[in-house]
Amino acid sequence: TRKIIIDTDPGQDDALAILLAFASPELDVLGITAVAGNVPLALTEVNARKICELAGRPDAKVFAGADRPLMRPLITAEHVHGKTGLDGPDLREPAMPLQKQHAVDFIIETLRDEEPGSVTLCALGPLTNIAHVLIRAPELAPRIREIVLMGGGFFEGGNITPTAEFNIYVDPQAAQIVLQSGVPVVILPLDVTHKVLTTAKRVDRFRAMGTRSGDASVALLEFFERFDEEKYGSDGGPLHDPNVIAWLLKPELYGGRHCNVIVDAANELTLGMTVVDWWGVTDRSKNAFYIRDVDDKGFFDLLIDRISHLP
Ligand code: BDR
Ligand code: CA
Repeated sequence: TRKIIIDTDPGQDDALAILLAFASPELDVLGITAVAGNVPLALTEVNARKICELAGRPDAKVFAGADRPLMRPLITAEHVHGKTGLDGPDLREPAMPLQKQHAVDFIIETLRDEEPGSVTLCALGPLTNIAHVLIRAPELAPRIREIVLMGGGFFEGGNITPTAEFNIYVDPQAAQIVLQSGVPVVILPLDVTHKVLTTAKRVDRFRAMGTRSGDASVALLEFFERFDEEKYGSDGGPLHDPNVIAWLLKPELYGGRHCNVIVDAANELTLGMTVVDWWGVTDRSKNAFYIRDVDDKGFFDLLIDRISHLP
């Protein structure tokens, strides 16, 4: 099994990603670390625990991390995710505890304790917590197997500004630290997630499960989609964060290439833009595996099959 830590700001699509991870025996979820993003930290950590309980995993460890980006004020996305960040399903207040340890301390301790090169960080929100780890304990960077993140977009444009994707825009300095860390980085950008559409037919396959996780998935997807479908004029809205987990499980569903990726953290008009040297027109180092293609049918087959095994 592959050891992962999920760093997240749930978020309906984060929730689906967490469910997919719990439903996958190939993955060992060492902990879930919450960060401020879609909504403030006080909500994302509660949402993370709600999802653990939904998945029948009240034993999972959830930690609260950074409540604001490194250098900028927090920008949230209630206009997409609703007031709670997890609007849609009717999930009860969690009974499982929040861990006392700070998320950043937990990640540092885990990287120190686990075998070098064995822990993968899955980032589903702004990269603030992970940047704090790299700032405070840069000597641990070589011990991280990989950072797999949902963020950015180049060919498709942005979703929070014309050039920036939300996770990167919220904390561009953190994203830049991650990209310059020397840790292998895999990027699942909007260029991928805008090809993964939650059509009505696909949502029906969740409904057909007849389980509590299936029903909650329908409510999550239907709420989340409302915003995007209208906006993008497609049959179904894009589904972002579960691509990170799907990539770990079945990388053959995706296609990309190693190239240089830099984040604009300085200019107002293009703040948070991921500048991708896809054609190798600079001699800047290839610091990321940037994914552009996805087998969307294969993705949904995987997601739906796995989630159907949850309670
Ligand atoms: C990303 O931003 C959030 O709104 C989603 O959860 C996803 O992680 C998409 O831009
Ligand atoms: Ca997210």
